[in-house]
Amino acid sequence: MEYFKIRGGRELHGSLRVQGAKNSALPLLAASVLIPGVSVIRDCPNLRDTAVTLEILRHLGCRAERTGDTVTVDAARVANCRIPAALMGELRSGVIFLGALLSRCGEAGMSLPGGCALGPRPVDFHGLALRQLGAEVHESGDGLVCCGRRLRGTVITLPYPSVGATENALLAAVCASGETRIRNAAREPEILDLCRFLQSAGGRIGGAGTGEITVQGVSALHSTGVTVSPDRIAAATYLCACAAAGGDISLYDCRPEQMEAVLTVLRQMGCTIETGGNRISCSRRGRLRMPLPVTTMPYPGFPTDAQPLLLAAMLKAEGEGSLRETVFQQRFGYARELEKLGAVIAFDGQEAHVRGVNRLCGARLLSPDLRGGAALCTAALSAEGESRIEGLNHIDRGYAALETALEQLGADIRRERTGSSREEEETWKKGRKPLKNTESDRDGDGTPTGSM
Ligand code: EPZ
Repeated sequence: MEYFKIRGGRELHGSLRVQGAKNSALPLLAASVLIPGVSVIRDCPNLRDTAVTLEILRHLGCRAERTGDTVTVDAARVANCRIPAALMGELRSGVIFLGALLSRCGEAGMSLPGGCALGPRPVDFHGLALRQLGAEVHESGDGLVCCGRRLRGTVITLPYPSVGATENALLAAVCASGETRIRNAAREPEILDLCRFLQSAGGRIGGAGTGEITVQGVSALHSTGVTVSPDRIAAATYLCACAAAGGDISLYDCRPEQMEAVLTVLRQMGCTIETGGNRISCSRRGRLRMPLPVTTMPYPGFPTDAQPLLLAAMLKAEGEGSLRETVFQQRFGYARELEKLGAVIAFDGQEAHVRGVNRLCGARLLSPDLRGGAALCTAALSAEGESRIEGLNHIDRGYAALETALEQLGADIRRERTGSSREEEETWKKGRKPLKNTESDRDGDGTPTGSM
């Protein structure tokens, strides 16, 4: 079993290039199935979810190869239109193959997707969009099957601007006959990336990045190449880590204009944020303040994926703050782990109330999901002593070596491995420093700074 060993208390300094966005790369890889030729995807981050997606492409009969950060997919031949449960169970974005396979092969089948456990994650809006385009969609307890050889343009009004459903609607509509309007479409930058990719392959798409996307169906797409945009959530991770640990960092190859909501909150907390071109610098000296109440919203609102990272940065801020989650029903699973460090968090439905403490103490923590795991690392950087973060399988799904990036900024973080034998576990427990938070931790230096 692998885990991160983090010794907190060090400021972060230095500069870092931001990886390509996971949530852009995954739909681009799925979209490559639609192109009966070669797609070259540059800056495709090398992480667990992209590796599984390449496996899916190979299973479908495509050639898919990675050289460094460039992935080449040759989908001249698609031999299969069903994705096995073992691959679908690994990630959420497998569902995006539905629209692409339906359009390319006239049918698609898959078991229900896996991915982070953030509460119920139905796929009804995906089904609605595909049905509107003329497909038959059968959803059973454990899978989805779609058929439709003649998809026809139409008006699709999504009940919610779902990122995944917008992507599936786009992929199914791009080669459908006639015009499709997707109303209440998601406006996330990842949708823009997908539109850019389809346009470069000959797709005719207008309104990308707005709430209404128009697609004029074309008969076929052609070979193309695209560069994945920088990962705004990875960038938010490093900025929140700097806010939590203190210091002075500079990120390059990022898009500050896509991160306004996060940058505004960090400024409210007392970080000095400067942006210019494709760079963001963040400096945090002195104690953080709590920001105004934050509510997660679809883009351009505060991103749900940055919610755990921000909460981790708020733990030692002065006063009381609140964070409301509106996108997913259960996205605070990681917060119980943060309490093991000495964090003081109370919950009121979908809202977390944080009372800042002066001190956090290292502990052994288990990542419940991808961003929750990154939030545990963020908090551990600002905790005294050693923390051990387990459940790296989640973190590795979305970060191309989080520890290498944080180490480059001066963090004391190491990936270690242990057998899972009881003997080794006991040795670890005996050998480690006392990490448990006690009441006296909170009553002493860790005394909360305000009343709840
Ligand atoms: C994408 O998930 C991202 N994943 C998520 O990133 C991100 O949190 C989310 O968009 C919101 O920004 C990928 O791009 C691979 P949604 P997605 O469809 O497409 C409900 C990360 O950490 N809904 O916009 O699954 C749904 O339950 C991840 O990188 C339905 O009810 O998100 C949720 O409450 C995690 N029916 C809300 O809409 C549907 O058919 C938003 O989901 C579809 C969605």
